[in-house]
Amino acid sequence: MVIIAPSLLSARLAHLAEDIKQVEYAGAQWLHVDVMDGHFVPNMTFGVAWVEAIRRETTLPLDVHLMVTAPERYVQQFVQAGADRITVHVEATMHVHRTIALIRSLGASPGVALNPGTSLATVDTLLEEIDLLLIMTVNPGFGGQSFIPHMLPKIQAAHARIVASHASRAIHLQVDGGIDATTIRAVVQAGATCCVAGSAIFQQPDRTQALETLRQCAQFGAHAPPDGTPSASE
Ligand code: DX5
Ligand code: ZN
Repeated sequence: MVIIAPSLLSARLAHLAEDIKQVEYAGAQWLHVDVMDGHFVPNMTFGVAWVEAIRRETTLPLDVHLMVTAPERYVQQFVQAGADRITVHVEATMHVHRTIALIRSLGASPGVALNPGTSLATVDTLLEEIDLLLIMTVNPGFGGQSFIPHMLPKIQAAHARIVASHASRAIHLQVDGGIDATTIRAVVQAGATCCVAGSAIFQQPDRTQALETLRQCAQFGAHAPPDGTPSASE
């Protein structure tokens, strides 16, 4: 079953503990934490102290997405704060292979992310080293943006490269940006195994229902009736 990782970027900051409990109760498998530095992306969000605070509220794995320039400067602090997974952008770190090794040496699970405009070829030589490949399906920086449909062939190609690599460990293929009831089926069919969703969960009044809708749509498409039976047009 696909992993759904709610992105806390769209949660209510003044009610973060409550929102975390709601998605935990709803069966979310990971929590996605977006860290932005106002340099690599034109926005600023959670820092180390936030990750520490979030860690105290949940036992779910914290999937920390570093949208920061030279992330290697902060990896150790985020691991100490409680990050289980750390994903860095290949565009942001000069020596990405070294940064991946650093994350693993500190006991966290390393991932690499690609902006929409970055070629898959940049990760070909890294597949043996990583646990997760994140294909951004929006330009990073903000929640609530529209899914870029041209990313679907890239997800398919990433899936094919992972299979062809015969990497010795399983690699999650994660997608992030614009994932909702109308897009999740296509990305899962293209090979995504982990879907990040911010506004599709936290902008909904009922988070349990929102997660269930995403799960149903991942399996059956956007026209699945609530009982999960595929409609005749599926
Ligand atoms: C965007 C972040 C995403 C963001 C996704 O740069 O990396 O994780 O929270 O938000 P939605 O699901 O609303 O597109
Ligand atoms: Zn993210």
